[in-house]
Amino acid sequence: MTTTYQSGIVAEASSDALFITLNVNRSEISTLRSALAATPKLIEALQQQFPDAELHAVLGLSSLIWDELDKQRPQYLAPFPHILGKETEIKPTDVDLVLHIRSSRHDASYQLAHTLFAALGKSVTLVEEVRCFKYLDNRDLTGFVDGTENPAGEKRKTVALVGDEDPDFKNGSYFNLMRFVHDLEKWQKEDLKTQEDVFGRTKHSNQEYPAAEKSVHAHTKRTSLKDENGQSMEILRHSMPFASLSEKGLMFASYSKTPVIFNLMLESMIKGDEHGNTDHLMKYTRATTGQAFFAPSNQWLMSL
Ligand code: HEM
Repeated sequence: MTTTYQSGIVAEASSDALFITLNVNRSEISTLRSALAATPKLIEALQQQFPDAELHAVLGLSSLIWDELDKQRPQYLAPFPHILGKETEIKPTDVDLVLHIRSSRHDASYQLAHTLFAALGKSVTLVEEVRCFKYLDNRDLTGFVDGTENPAGEKRKTVALVGDEDPDFKNGSYFNLMRFVHDLEKWQKEDLKTQEDVFGRTKHSNQEYPAAEKSVHAHTKRTSLKDENGQSMEILRHSMPFASLSEKGLMFASYSKTPVIFNLMLESMIKGDEHGNTDHLMKYTRATTGQAFFAPSNQWLMSL
């Protein structure tokens, strides 16, 4: 059977995004089943209604709900890891479902969110809804460009989509979501060099530091991992800032053919390397959520 992947997984960065987390009402599983089966067609219809809005969506399911819908599980689907470092603790806050909607027009994103939420009806309750926006030239609110080293072109698919290694779940993707709240007051007190050292990149011109100048605590050092064959281990990030006058931060979002890579990166940030050198970016932000999902193929959804 040929399967198609959900379009929001590999589509290019957008200027508007909604991250919506939901819990399932366990007495309404059959309503949920038919709503999920209808989502690919509903999304397609809205994409046709807004042809210029680059409207995309991903629906993901966590390990908490998966077994209620299918006898078989994607190979690596598991709860978000609990990671205890010397300075930081990351706690899982898994929920049942996620909708990741993005476009170049907030009215289109809203319309799709409303349509899908209405279709899910009484089978779900809303946990959290976060509206994100493109800040300047794709910068995080710390002022640094985010997403530069993302895989490009066809590589986005090989990095993000499950292949023949798990044939029943081919073209699905493991989706990790974390809501980070920044301490911008603390961040803005740091001088430019300190801030640049934290990322291992320059701020204004967005250049990577030469390897010899990168601190072991730099965010890009802690997240650049190699496998046993010396190959880079990669994920596809779709993180975007959110902000109100009272709270500012980043919705970190990544897709990968295996969650193992994300988990290793997060461990490398929080627990550090073999000498305990951790990611100094974490001194300026804290994760309020950590969630793991699997975004199945459209065919899996339609077969429910
Ligand atoms: C790189 C921001 C959390 C994985 C970067 C870069 C920025 C950034 C500005 C450099 C430019 C680029 O995108 O290549 C942030 C912020 C975070 C955050 C503000 C949270 C507040 C995370 C987490 C992970 C992660 C939780 C994974 C567990 C990566 C990876 C790179 C990267 C893989 C590319 C490294 C490279 O190859 O140079 N991030 N990030 N980030 N980040 Fe993050």
